[in-house]
Amino acid sequence: MIELDNITIKYGSATVIDGLSLTVEKGEFFTLLGSSGCGKTTLLRAIAGFIKPSSGRIVVDGEDVTSTGPEDRDVGIVFQNYALFPHMTVFENVAFGLRVARKSKAEIAQEVNDTLNRVGVFEHAQKKPSELSGGQQQRVAIARALVLGAQVILLDEPLSNLDAKMRETMRSEIRNLQQKFGLTAVYVTHDQQEALVLSDKIAVLVGGEIEQLGTPREIYHQPATENIFRFIGEATMLSAATLGDLGEADLAAQAGTRQCFARPEDFVIGEKTGPEWLNLNAEVVSSEFRGNSMRLTLKIGDSTVLCDTVGRYQDPEVGSAQPVSLRREHLRIYGAG
Ligand SMILES: Nc1ncnc2c1ncn2[C@@H]1O[C@H](COP(=O)(O)OP(=O)(O)O)[C@@H](O)[C@H]1O
Ligand SMILES: [Mg+2]
Repeated sequence: MIELDNITIKYGSATVIDGLSLTVEKGEFFTLLGSSGCGKTTLLRAIAGFIKPSSGRIVVDGEDVTSTGPEDRDVGIVFQNYALFPHMTVFENVAFGLRVARKSKAEIAQEVNDTLNRVGVFEHAQKKPSELSGGQQQRVAIARALVLGAQVILLDEPLSNLDAKMRETMRSEIRNLQQKFGLTAVYVTHDQQEALVLSDKIAVLVGGEIEQLGTPREIYHQPATENIFRFIGEATMLSAATLGDLGEADLAAQAGTRQCFARPEDFVIGEKTGPEWLNLNAEVVSSEFRGNSMRLTLKIGDSTVLCDTVGRYQDPEVGSAQPVSLRREHLRIYGAG
């Protein structure tokens, strides 16, 4: 278990992390999600011991490691750019930490080969990093973090240098390895889909503070703020005036001067019956064929909303009327007022 207790980190006079606390449970896949510059790498480096917080405590498995150097913390780290030694072979890269720990030659050979096997790059053991693909370098970086037997692994945007297909493959492999070895993982990314797919828990970081902490489903379906609603998925807006025009006086009053948000995929084509549904009379402004889905731009009263629909739906005629329905629980109201 990792506990950050009221951590503040400064570079000179600039406060990057401001009184942040969080707990990562044993065996949990925990993601720090946030846009570039929000302090993710800084926080990860503090957990690894490369940066000392100016105040607060870091506790790993009940032991206060706030003042412990990185070599004495039982954590493996995978850096954003892999940081492999370019002049060493794959084998030597992975063996490095074991040599530093003064293990015997036989032990080193066995543990390195085992680990290379586990992550699937055994046949490349004698190559240099420059002779490997991005995905293979990624595996070597993971092997190097795993070989020391740490139960905690820290990963800093480990997929950002890979192409889209390889990112998806490595994404599931990272999750598989974490599960297989029961590792506690702290994963840093700016990619919300990566965070949703991989994580048990996500902390959304904004300006060095946690804006929301929750499971992927909580973060996606119950975003705490408009900012997170927009960041974690797509957002479209309905005005209170539109709701009023629809005869939804209670909803309109509840919204007041604030905005009502929904996700494009929450609109359903057609008129649904039952008190849980809002029925909306839309006019089709445009439609866009996307292969597996279609995106409609709809005019509902004075609001323009986006609606995604899947299945073999016929192109609706621009200008035609189109009934759509939205579950009331899928409408969220944010803003001051
Ligand atoms: N060594 C450093 N010295 C001074 N400022 C830094 C240093 N490293 C990062 N920063 C600043 O701290 C903030 C957070 O950086 P970082 O943790 O790298 O963000 P992220 O990983 O989320 O992109 C940024 O504004 C960055 O410019
Ligand atoms: Mg970073």
